[in-house]
Order: sequence, then C-alpha cells, then structure tokens
Amino acid sequence: MKKMILGLALLVSASVLSANVDGEPKLTTEEAQTKMKASMSLLDNELKQRIGKLSDSTKGTLVQIYRHHDRHSMQSTLRQVMQEVGQEYETMVSAVFMDNAEMAADAARRIANHRIPRGGLISYLELDQINDELLGGLDSMNTAVEGNAMKFAQAADRGDMAEAASLLSPIANGCVSCHVIFRGKPGTNSHIK
Ligand code: HEC
Repeated sequence: MKKMILGLALLVSASVLSANVDGEPKLTTEEAQTKMKASMSLLDNELKQRIGKLSDSTKGTLVQIYRHHDRHSMQSTLRQVMQEVGQEYETMVSAVFMDNAEMAADAARRIANHRIPRGGLISYLELDQINDELLGGLDSMNTAVEGNAMKFAQAADRGDMAEAASLLSPIANGCVSCHVIFRGKPGTNSHIK
C-alpha cells in the first residue's frame, strides 16, 4: 500500500513537473533582455532606431516571446528558421497519421521552442513593417502557434491523436495569419511586371 501511494505521488509530481516545464518560460526576463541586447548589437543604426521606437508594450511582448525560447542562433536567418519550422509541422502531421506519439510530441515542442534567428525575430521584416500596429498581432499569432503546439504535445503525450489532430488547423491558422501580414509573395522579382 505504502509503495502504491509513493508510486502515485511520484507519478503526480512527474506530471506536474512536466506541465511546468511545458508552460513556464524557459528564461527569466533578465535573461531574455540580455539575449535581445546581444542581437541588437548585430543590427545597423537604421534598424536599431526602428526597433527602439516601438512602444514598451510591443517590446514587452517580444521579451515574453523570447522567454519561451532558449535556442538563440548565431547563424540561422528567419527564413532558415522557418524552413525548420515547416519541416517540424510536417513531422507532426506524419506522426499523427502514423500514430507515433513521441515523434509527434517532440516535433511540436521543437516548434514551440523554435530557434530565434541571428539578429532577432523582427529584424528580418521590412523597415516599415516594424511598427506597433502590425506587431500588435504578434502575441495572438504566437499563442495560436506555440500555445497550440504545446497543447498538441500534451495530447500526444496522452496518446490522444484525435485531440492532437484537431489542433493542427489552429496551429496552421497562426502560421498563415503571420505570413499574410508579414510575408510578401515568395520569390518575386522587380524586373518582372
Ligand atoms: C511571426 C510571424 C510568423 C509566424 C507565426 C510563422 N511564420 Fe513562417 N514566415 C514568416 C516570415 C516573415 C517568412 C518569410 C521569411 C523570409 O523569406 O525571409 C516566413 C516564411 C516561411 C516559410 C518559407 C521559407 C522559405 O524558404 O521561403 C515557411 C515554410 C514557413 N514560414 C513556415 C511556417 C510555419 C509552418 C509556421 C507555423 C508553425 C510559421 N511559418 C509561422 C513569419 C512567420
């Protein structure tokens, strides 16, 4: 009996622990601010001034996003990070169909903790896109992607592939909402009318 209670207590604490690991930020505010300052030091003055003009609320949103990411790359561009994120999403879809819970959950957690590109997340946007109005939507798009990716991972952990599958579309909505706002038509060329 004692053994069983101990076993149960261990099980409960392990699940509480993993819920914390999933939900809690990975960095303190100070650590996130240090990462941000380090990436700002790679930017030219024009871009630095643009970012400097953002409101405290927008800057706060960015710090909160950074707190949930502990993979800050000194190499990858945003486009390269997106290539990786795109592959992770496809891995999640395949894993659902193959009923491979661990594969699904790991890919989802990698999406939620995708790399932050060299120079920072918003440094790859057009200068005139770096304003409070457009970046005001960042928080909700980020939650749609990363919040639902964490829910997907938890559903996969439980082996509930039906629940996991139902989250694929809300995640894709978050991806595409951001693309609609911040991404032009891929591969256009100013020499072609
Ligand atoms: C914060 C906004 C934002 C979110 C959220 C976002 N993306 Fe992107 N994505 C971009 C931008 C901006 C680009 C264009 C980058 C460039 O070409 O430099 C892009 C480009 C891409 C590309 C094309 C890369 C290439 O080689 O041209 C893929 C694939 C992609 N995203 C997948 C995803 C997926 C999958 C998700 C969701 C799981 C997602 N993105 C979420 C902003 C976002």
